Amino acid sequence: MKVKNNVSQDETVERWIEELISQLTLEEKASMIHGNGLFRTKAVERLGIPEIVTSDGPMGVRMEFQNDHWIALGHSDDFVSYSPSNSALAATWNPQRAYDSGRVLGEEARGRGKDVILAPGINIKRDPLCGRNFEYMSEDPCLIETLTVPFIKGVQENDVAACVKHFAVNNQETDRLMVDTVVEERALREIYYPGFRAAVQEGGTYSLMNAYNKLRGAHCSENKELLDQVLREEWGYDGTVISDWGSVHSTKEAAETSIDVEMSVTPDFDEYYFANPLIRAVKDGEVKEEFLDEKVRNILRMMYRLKMMGPEAVERKAGSYNTAEHRQTIRKTAEEAILLLKNEDNLLPITKDRLSMRTGDSKAVGQIPVAPRKRKIAVIGRNAEYCHAGGGGSAEIKALYEVSPLLGLKQALGGNAEVVYAPGYFIPGKKDVNEVNWQEASLERRVMGQEDPDSEEQKALRKEIRENRARLKKEACDLAGEADEVIFVGGLNHDYDVEGRDRDDMKLPYGQDELIEELLARNPNTIVVIVAGSPVEMPWADRAKALVWCYYSGMETGTALADILIGRVNPSAKLPETFPVAYEDTVTAKNGQFGLEGQVTYKGGIFVGYRYYEKEKVKPAFPFGYGLSYTTFSMTDLKVDAGCESDIAVTVSLKVKNIGSVPGAEVVQCYVTDCECSVERPVKELKAYRKIFLEPGETETVTLELPPKAFAFYDVDRRDFVVEPGSFLIQVGNSSANCPLQAEVRL
Ligand code: BGC
Repeated sequence: MKVKNNVSQDETVERWIEELISQLTLEEKASMIHGNGLFRTKAVERLGIPEIVTSDGPMGVRMEFQNDHWIALGHSDDFVSYSPSNSALAATWNPQRAYDSGRVLGEEARGRGKDVILAPGINIKRDPLCGRNFEYMSEDPCLIETLTVPFIKGVQENDVAACVKHFAVNNQETDRLMVDTVVEERALREIYYPGFRAAVQEGGTYSLMNAYNKLRGAHCSENKELLDQVLREEWGYDGTVISDWGSVHSTKEAAETSIDVEMSVTPDFDEYYFANPLIRAVKDGEVKEEFLDEKVRNILRMMYRLKMMGPEAVERKAGSYNTAEHRQTIRKTAEEAILLLKNEDNLLPITKDRLSMRTGDSKAVGQIPVAPRKRKIAVIGRNAEYCHAGGGGSAEIKALYEVSPLLGLKQALGGNAEVVYAPGYFIPGKKDVNEVNWQEASLERRVMGQEDPDSEEQKALRKEIRENRARLKKEACDLAGEADEVIFVGGLNHDYDVEGRDRDDMKLPYGQDELIEELLARNPNTIVVIVAGSPVEMPWADRAKALVWCYYSGMETGTALADILIGRVNPSAKLPETFPVAYEDTVTAKNGQFGLEGQVTYKGGIFVGYRYYEKEKVKPAFPFGYGLSYTTFSMTDLKVDAGCESDIAVTVSLKVKNIGSVPGAEVVQCYVTDCECSVERPVKELKAYRKIFLEPGETETVTLELPPKAFAFYDVDRRDFVVEPGSFLIQVGNSSANCPLQAEVRL
């Protein structure tokens, strides 16, 4: 009955769409399929068809711009909630948090009057240097799929479309507009496509953004194999494909491909490929009008789904932004996103007795009363007071506020501790390189931010940097020398984690390594906190007893971080990507990252992230899936049953117990190894996981169901996923490098 209803509903909608299309003129159709503003299309008022209003981006709804220039309006009504970046979200390993993040974003987007929010970004983290890694989730397709689907649902239940980006293989920023990505079919199917397939088939995304780059010779915007064959035919996608801004390069080619809306960064809207040039091409008989009809059809279907218009009157949600509930949700996600990577001697959390006022000191001097002494906490490092929301490229937002780590610590510690701060390292001021906004300039293929190293200006700058660096380092080390606790907060910022440019190397900038070494030499108990969006080399890691990693975690970063440092919150995040020891260890360093003469070949094939390190037996600094807690868990009683249902091949169950003394959460991770196979397969692959919260002493049985696909590889000859019968090893643990429970199963 339900199905029947849906069918008749769908039929009514499709009939209504056809009816509208039949009334539209060629010019009106063209007006609906290209930008009429930097973030909007044109309405057809005569027929009551509204414009589509889009906005970036992944961490919150971007500020308002002039319609035709990249100049922010500068009003006071576009401050928003600032959510954890996708890299932070992925570190939670919690689909519930992904759903919540999507819900907050969708509600805020709707509250700001948007129809499409240009998020989430889900490209694979192939290279640690990619400038936009902070916007992406993981190196692993399973983790991406399982977080993307609930994220989309959370967004779209607010009558706002998610726009999953960037389809496909946009894994580097260098030459992103033109680079031709050469990648084998199996790698596409097993590594680069699954997140997008899940977004379409399981998440039901209403829109999707094509990438700038080429895939095997053709720009993604006019790539028939990618958009017509894979996306539309194989995956059955009937939503809208929106071009990345300025990614369309032709009229006929693109118009005849399954891309629906052309957006760009320049104000000559009537001259976009899908505007006057397309109208002319149709009139000249070069392009059939049916291609425009199909685009309009997809757009109207999305409008119907968003309750923007339709055959019947329905109420659309109004949304809301900057609510207290959003801030609470964001804080909760941040708490689950901050990673504890090292904790020797249980240096963390900084317990109450290490922070309390020393009233007892007066006894030491007999009868003479001594005023209680406040504990001195030295917070060193610019990222302690740095606010990141306003940077990164199109992910920039005007956050209502951002609690810095320093503010968070002061808020948490109150008046009984003396928190002193020193910047410790010097960040040279940036010269305003372009008068034009970077987004407009981005289409000119110029490498942004490159200077002539031999210019007088650069020499003077280097001198200034040297002097300031020495001064700030001395000041910080002196301060650390007289403190009870030393917390270093450094890392990267959006000068490095940024759209349009990849990092040159994986090193910490601004002389931080030297500073950290010095701080650790002075005080071996220095707590090191790194705030960054992508991995850095940490040559001092062996000497740091306590190491905390914090991706850009939103407006409550400082609150959540402080709560973790003092133990009000028990860390439960796990790495969504491998942290290599050095850049030389990565697949991209070995096989080329940026490509020569406009081409990059993904030589590693399916061996990306831990699949690569495990195959090459390269020991990383911190493995995929790794992260510590203030408590410990045991995993026992693994049971593995080959199922008899068609959608469940194997059921895995085990017992997890919190054997420590504080409540905490553990992520049970299940990896599969194909023991014998006709093609080379990874040492193991993540196929399921579950995050569980346990009180001290509490035990829970965790059951994970593995579908047949968890055992399959993509067979290029058969052009399909296949499971080769034989034995498979199921490995369960709490990181890719620690899977103590293992069992074999025959399929
Ligand atoms: C980015 C997209 C973004 C668009 C609109 C492009 O530069 O690649 O991710 O959504 O701009 O700002």
